[in-house]
Amino acid sequence: MPQDTFDLVIAANRLPVDRVREGGRSVWRRSPGGLVTAMESVMSGRDGAWIGWSGVPGKAPAAFEQGGMSLHPVALSAEEVRDYYEGFSNASLWPLYHDVIVPPTFRRRWQSAYDGVNRRFAETAAGLAAKNATVWVHDYQLQQVPQLLRELRPDLRIGWFNHIPFPPVELFMQLPARDAMLRGLLGADFLGFQRRTDAQNFLRACRQLLVDDDISVKADVVHAPDGHECRAAAVPISIDTAGMAELAETSGVQERAAEIRKQLGNPEHLLLGIDRLDYTKGIRHRLKALEEMYREGTLDPTETKFIQVATPSRERLDAYQHIKSEVEQTVGRINGEHAIFGAPPVTYLHRSFPREEMAAMFVAADVMLVTPLRDGMNLVAKEYVAAHDHSGALVLSEFTGAANELKQSYLCNPHDIARTKRTITRAIEASPEERARRMRAMHRQVQRHDVQHWAERFLSNLAAAPRQP
Ligand code: ADP
Ligand code: G6P
Repeated sequence: MPQDTFDLVIAANRLPVDRVREGGRSVWRRSPGGLVTAMESVMSGRDGAWIGWSGVPGKAPAAFEQGGMSLHPVALSAEEVRDYYEGFSNASLWPLYHDVIVPPTFRRRWQSAYDGVNRRFAETAAGLAAKNATVWVHDYQLQQVPQLLRELRPDLRIGWFNHIPFPPVELFMQLPARDAMLRGLLGADFLGFQRRTDAQNFLRACRQLLVDDDISVKADVVHAPDGHECRAAAVPISIDTAGMAELAETSGVQERAAEIRKQLGNPEHLLLGIDRLDYTKGIRHRLKALEEMYREGTLDPTETKFIQVATPSRERLDAYQHIKSEVEQTVGRINGEHAIFGAPPVTYLHRSFPREEMAAMFVAADVMLVTPLRDGMNLVAKEYVAAHDHSGALVLSEFTGAANELKQSYLCNPHDIARTKRTITRAIEASPEERARRMRAMHRQVQRHDVQHWAERFLSNLAAAPRQP
């Protein structure tokens, strides 16, 4: 008989798998994004339940088992996909939390859909959690769940982790639902953030905006209205480092990496970018830098090739359609100006790939370009480092969480195109000794701080939270 309650329940907007149509049939495919990459590794081998949306509107499929986990789909109607997911989550919160790179839009209708879906997640979690169980809630789509869940099940230990940045209070206070978001999170015992700055931004927002005398903030602890304590701290996320390093060493991946280089004409320098097609990732800025370098002759289009993988994302939203057409136009322009027969300088791939193919691209690339305008962490940067221990070079934006840890990368400010170009040149021209020195240090860092280490830190912080008085 299937288990009906669990000691560990994960609640995230998405399940680790996504229901998509392929060849006229509905099939489960791996969901996009870093949250799933990280949590899939954490949950394999742990006996737990994961609740999340299947990726399509309508009735939820029945619960099923996968990879030792019990997956529990939560239904979203077409209106909820529009108002809760595309609206409040990805047109209000996502741009606001990423430094308003595009202007956030606020609609009252979206907020009630967000509240309704968060309530459904809280009720589903309350129904699946065993007595005194741990419920680990994820990301900006579910900020009301901690408080709703505490009201339903005060016996639970409730944690929340923010995979994206938490903005400075001057930006956060634009959000009409700001008090509700903060009070929703305060239902948790422990709140984990990517960087210290994110945790401090949250605490400062509580101090400044929740002025009622039923809430007080001391150091990193908020005393919530019901008397329980909610602690906020940085617990930076990571990857399955050993898994990626082992995969990168397999003969299949090594051979495929050599084949990729051969297919591109064995260029002297192979540069790589891998991102969800999102305006936060700085793909436009990166392409601008490269376009200028090809034009000026700093890069020779026959010697230096660039692969840009841009994973389809949130395709019904205007801002995403806009960035997609800008990227496609720029790639078209660069190739139009610089390609010779059968050998364009930029290879643009707008689709998902199996893990082995991703690893082969990492191994093949001499220089990885990770240039977001803002990113909570950026797991791609860590994956590249895991796939190399003494070769390769990483150009990394200062505006990523990863920049706090990968200090031996070639750091850049992607808004400063002139210096970004010089940084790319430095990375390309670095001696093998310099590359090896930098990469070894970064490789050690991601080896020591892998995703299991992250999950243990998060869960032990949560377990150490004082019980409710
Ligand atoms: P985000 O969570 O914003 O998408 P991250 O860099 O933190 O960004 O995580 C992205 C994850 O998705 C990484 O594990 C990366 O390897 C994976 N990924 C990105 N693009 C693809 C793709 N086209 N095919 C398969 N996996 C991808
Ligand atoms: C980021 C977010 C995740 C999200 C992922 C993919 O990693 O932090 O919560 O799942 O992007 O985006 P999507 O909207 O397709 O779920």
